Amino acid sequence: MSFNSLFRKKSVQDILKQVEKNEAEGGHGSLGKHLGVRDLTAFGIAAIIGAGIFSTIGKASADGGPAVIFLFLFTAIACGFAAFAYAEFASMVPVSGSAYTYSYVAFGELIAWIIGWALIMEYAIGNITVAISWSDYFTGLLDSGGIHLPQWIQMDYLTASKGFHQATALMQSGKTFENLDASVQAAHTAWVNSPSIGSLHIIADLPALMIIVFITWLVYKGMKESKNASNLMVVIKLCIILLVIAVGVFYVDTDNWNPFAPNGVGGILKGVSAVFFAYIGFDAISTTAEECKNPQRDLPRGMMWAIIVCTILYIIIALVLTGMVSYTELNVGDPLAFVFDKLDLKWMSGIIAVSAVVAMASVLLVFQMGQPRIWMSMSRDGLLPKAFSRVHPKYKTPSFATIVTGFVVAIPALFLNLTMVTDLCSIGTLFAFVLVCGGVLVLQNKRGHSKRKI
Ligand code: ALA
Repeated sequence: MSFNSLFRKKSVQDILKQVEKNEAEGGHGSLGKHLGVRDLTAFGIAAIIGAGIFSTIGKASADGGPAVIFLFLFTAIACGFAAFAYAEFASMVPVSGSAYTYSYVAFGELIAWIIGWALIMEYAIGNITVAISWSDYFTGLLDSGGIHLPQWIQMDYLTASKGFHQATALMQSGKTFENLDASVQAAHTAWVNSPSIGSLHIIADLPALMIIVFITWLVYKGMKESKNASNLMVVIKLCIILLVIAVGVFYVDTDNWNPFAPNGVGGILKGVSAVFFAYIGFDAISTTAEECKNPQRDLPRGMMWAIIVCTILYIIIALVLTGMVSYTELNVGDPLAFVFDKLDLKWMSGIIAVSAVVAMASVLLVFQMGQPRIWMSMSRDGLLPKAFSRVHPKYKTPSFATIVTGFVVAIPALFLNLTMVTDLCSIGTLFAFVLVCGGVLVLQNKRGHSKRKI
């Protein structure tokens, strides 16, 4: 392979010809076309509203105070610019590869290969994060309904092992079990009660595995099924978020908004990575380009609508939350449930837990759809084995790549813990955004090469 071949590029025309050829061949290479602008907006909202707003908003509000709304606004504007770049590419090259294909057109094969793997950090690793959070909320929900799963099937191995050793050290220094933190107690219980083979304890997050298996099955079965499930989940989560706002507004005490920016710009900016994580996802819908009825028109619109709707909701939620209690109290993992609990509205915290479970399942669905489509595009270009571009003759989905994605997400979700994976997801996404925005600049000089329909 010559050095130059590492930077060989694909022309937009070649890519479009390849897609037309796949479509003409029917079952072997083409995906089913089921999506319109409403479905794409729903997929966008499905991917955006998830663990971010249900957990990380608490810490961001505690640092920035009510002025955290500016962070949501500025992050939305920054993501909006990235979305414009995605939209421009998606309308030019409406194929499944998303940032991978766009980088191939703009920068050549080597950068495309790198971004293809970096996108795993966004989709596959992002989904490990969301599956672990989903499991926490789900087991919490079961607990409140009186169903208590054994600790060793709802916790990852590393957390249990670390917690057990911490508990043992603390008890040796004189503390009683009852005086330990609840999380350390749970880890100790998981370790002590777990079955073992020799010295190996069997401890794994089974709910996280179950949800990944279910979502992978849905994504494998077909775009229509995924679309219907996503639309339903989006309606449920939007209704519940609107209910949270509608009920919460009556408990807002405007004194809590004073001071509005207690820690100045520095405090507001502290929450930037959490708020960015809350917006990740709108780009994932570009991986469905080949399954859109009119991708050039609908993909850009779907992305923009999703960002606009989510920004409005995020800002209102931030205002309501910081109005209901003092910002200083919001540094908790489940801020939405926390504020209603504090006001003794237990029924609302139950509804919020259900909503969190639904919202995170929808994020899982869209990311679980995105990863195999990136691999499919890489395989078509010869950067992965041919099996990755195999399309199921009946379901019209990238079958092999979908199953591999299921394994790649499900197995680590059994054993890893959250802190290891959240930041990787944001890093991979940021990297993709930078390359896509840079790609648009690179292609500026080549305007006229291809049709844009936005
Ligand atoms: N934006 C997605 C979430 O907050 C990743 O869960």
